[in-house]
Amino acid sequence: MPLSFPRPAIYILHMRNIVILTGAGISAESGIATFRGPGGLWEGHRVEDVCTPEALARDAALVHRFYDLRRAALETVVPNAAHQALARLDREWAGELLIVTQNVDDLHERAGARRMLHMHGELRSALCANCEERRSWAGTLPPGSVCPACGAAALRPDIVFFGEMPYQMERIEAALAQADLFVSIGTSGAVYPAAGFVRLASHYGAATLELNLERSEGSAWFEETRLGPAGVLVPAWVDAVLG
Ligand code: OAD
Repeated sequence: MPLSFPRPAIYILHMRNIVILTGAGISAESGIATFRGPGGLWEGHRVEDVCTPEALARDAALVHRFYDLRRAALETVVPNAAHQALARLDREWAGELLIVTQNVDDLHERAGARRMLHMHGELRSALCANCEERRSWAGTLPPGSVCPACGAAALRPDIVFFGEMPYQMERIEAALAQADLFVSIGTSGAVYPAAGFVRLASHYGAATLELNLERSEGSAWFEETRLGPAGVLVPAWVDAVLG
């Protein structure tokens, strides 16, 4: 039988370690399209056409242009109330905190969050397919751009494509193993390994909470689900946690 959240006050008093997973839904109110929107298209493209190693090998120009446009679009958006609330939690929460985002935008850090990582890469980063060095990148990234580190014409968008290993999995799993509370915000629960974090966190004894516009695919695994826009739910939850 799922427990209701918050757990008994004594539990909250002892709560120290929080792990938060965010997805496209947290940036929706900033004007960034989610992945599985109407028709299942991402900005008019099937994810498989712009987010796989095969797509990059087949049509590098299309894939690079697609992420160039997404990178440029970051100039037109700003963090919303949900990003701001998590940044406040980061500043004020004295315990351990890790915000793991699947998002490739930079709205968490622009809001001021620091204890965070991008498990699916970053639009404002380029990855060398030859030496694997990652570097900050602004502006367009044409196919064949030369890596300053190794000299190979092999820079590509620093996006974790389907079939590739997400970043920092060991650090994430270690944080989940220590978590007292796992919170999932704005993600459909359709993409692994992130979709499996709730079960891992539960296995290690964490309380689990989902904040989403609608029930995610893994909703049944959470002790509690709160439905609504992240811009409303997240600030209310952070207020409650910081008490
Ligand atoms: P999805 O587009 O799959 O899911 C977004 C979720 O956010 C859905 O469950 C929506 O109901 C919810 N949502 C939409 N608007 C919201 C709002 N205002 N407030 C709260 N929730 C809202 O995006 P992700 O789950 O992030 O991978 O997708 C996971 C991964 O699939 C992405 O990181 C990306 C994609 O392929 C890579 O790029 C490697």
